[in-house]
Amino acid sequence: MTEKDFISDYKYNLVDKGKIESKCGSNIALIKYWGKYFPQLPANPSISYTLSESFTQTTINFEKTTKFSVQVFLGKHFNEKFSKKIEKYFLSIKPYLPFIDKYKYIIYTTNSFPHSSGIASSASGFGAIADCLVKMSTLLGEKNNEEFNKAKTSFLARLGSGSACRSVYKGLVVWGKHKTIPGSSDLYAIPFPFEISPVFKTIQDTVLLIHEGVKEISSTLGHDLMKDHPYAKTRFTEARKNLSELTMVLQKGDLETFGRIVEHEALSLHAMMMTSFPAFILMKPETLAAIKKIWEFRKDTRHHLYFTLDAGANIHLLYPEEEKNEIFPFINNELIIYSENNKLIKDKAYF
Ligand code: PMV
Repeated sequence: MTEKDFISDYKYNLVDKGKIESKCGSNIALIKYWGKYFPQLPANPSISYTLSESFTQTTINFEKTTKFSVQVFLGKHFNEKFSKKIEKYFLSIKPYLPFIDKYKYIIYTTNSFPHSSGIASSASGFGAIADCLVKMSTLLGEKNNEEFNKAKTSFLARLGSGSACRSVYKGLVVWGKHKTIPGSSDLYAIPFPFEISPVFKTIQDTVLLIHEGVKEISSTLGHDLMKDHPYAKTRFTEARKNLSELTMVLQKGDLETFGRIVEHEALSLHAMMMTSFPAFILMKPETLAAIKKIWEFRKDTRHHLYFTLDAGANIHLLYPEEEKNEIFPFINNELIIYSENNKLIKDKAYF
């Protein structure tokens, strides 16, 4: 599909008002997207797990009007910044949803996970909004098949926040054109198209909340810093190579190589931040101490406990369910000391 396929010239039946709801999981990337070009296209392909317990729930009430507006409430509280941001976003996607400015919107949104926890609320947030809007287009009479609607939801979510396009599907999701992944596209995400080993369907993700606070670097700025980055070209090539290798590993069920690639990707993301101008160090001393302990634990016990990081200090601890009884006590007794308020988020891949 091309961008033109998502442009709509449908004659909508503009009902007076209505209400749409959606629930969308956040996601954690295994191969990281870091670097983009206009309009929100990735410099390299990425793959993520959609999360099961960390999700956003959104309700959109809409009413026909001559004066388009958007009001966003986070929980019960009106949020002016988000209202302006979403209003701008709605207008930017008018070519794909031409009815959008014929309504005024009141949006209620809640996250199942704490604010500033390092879990990407923009991914689940835009995923849920895009899903509501595509459902709305169906309600107003647009007829398309489910597969197309999913692709359009992902396409629209991407225009809100890049990684949000991956949250539209459950399981493992790929975004970005890659020669070994048939159907992959820079415009929208697709479910990982190959059968994966059962061990990767029950991956646990326990998040060690090392630092709860506002991000020191917005992802928009981070992506921008890749434009003149001295290692950008190498990084983008490396990410493609890592995705090819991971594609094989996921089918084979090779946990060791999975861990090696995923940890390398997390550290590469941070290495990019540390070597950009200006430089950012988002890991905290506790992040490093915890990583060292994970490596020691692995050496001593041979259990398959691995980590990944987002653009922040918190650690996503990844491990298969069948080793939960041995690994979780280690997290809960020995790694929890590195979290700011003794807090963990217990999550898992959503299949
Ligand atoms: O979607 P954005 O613009 O918030 O960027 C997300 C970037 C990372 O979370 C660091 C990596 C990724 O692929 O999710």
